[in-house]
Amino acid sequence: MTQAISSAVSSAASSVNSSGNAPASPYGTLGPTSTPSARKPIGLPRLREMHAAGEKITMLTAYDATFAAVADAAGVECILVGDSLGMVCQGLTSTVGVTLEAMRHHTECVASGLRRSQATAWLIGDLPFGSYHESKEQALRSAVVLMQAGAHMVKLEGGGWTTDVVHFLVERGIPVCAHLGLTPQTVHALGGYRVQGKTDEAAARLKREASALQDAGAAMLVLEMVPEALATTLTQTLKNCPTIGIGAGSGCAGQVLVLHDMLGMNLGKMPKFVYNFMADAGSVRGAMETYVAAVKNGSFPVNSLHAW
Ligand code: KIV
Repeated sequence: MTQAISSAVSSAASSVNSSGNAPASPYGTLGPTSTPSARKPIGLPRLREMHAAGEKITMLTAYDATFAAVADAAGVECILVGDSLGMVCQGLTSTVGVTLEAMRHHTECVASGLRRSQATAWLIGDLPFGSYHESKEQALRSAVVLMQAGAHMVKLEGGGWTTDVVHFLVERGIPVCAHLGLTPQTVHALGGYRVQGKTDEAAARLKREASALQDAGAAMLVLEMVPEALATTLTQTLKNCPTIGIGAGSGCAGQVLVLHDMLGMNLGKMPKFVYNFMADAGSVRGAMETYVAAVKNGSFPVNSLHAW
């Protein structure tokens, strides 16, 4: 595994070095992986095209302008302003305490960073705990806050009751990313950060919920800590909704990691599904480029190491 990811490291590094005399910028001395003119803004049509062609979709979290700009320049297609910011930026022990105002603020910071960079990435804002649970109307009001802060899409956790919420938002022109499996906002109800969908019954429920979310119009589905065989089946079944895995194996249509985790920084225990891309890369930009290369060429994640 290390060898496979390491070769992604060196191929990313050589493509970077060959870019030669790229001008210095506040985000590092390297230019974008490809020329700005070759980089078109990522929208839903492009994401659908990639999904149909079997090209892996890359996603990382970011919470501020500088990291977002670096990720954009490194070729990360989707940037998620995750409510994981509660843990990595605010030092909370779960995402439950994250407010809509905090999400609005960080979404605005990331959107500003993208405007200062290539502005290619698709920006997803996470609806925090309590901001969509009361009613569809409350969900719409919260989604509007994030869209007006610069998000192109909102993400919400859970299945079943969320299906109507997703439909309501999508009907009103708000792209939605769903999130199933381990849903950190409900960590207390789940009894901890555990793999989900392990029993036949839980797997069947997950399949039903995923398919209902796709029918409701969800344009993407994050699958967190789900057995890789189940995630692969879901990925093959959901023709119109690319799955983005985190601890869900290599069979997903794309991958996401929390930025700080993949840079080797974590206040707690590093989850099994994380690989430290910073260790060999030597720079944040290099780590992100390696991540993109490794996801695209299938060398990350490795099922025997990063999945269940
Ligand atoms: O908040 C977050 O960062 C997330 C990712 C783990 C998918 O939801």
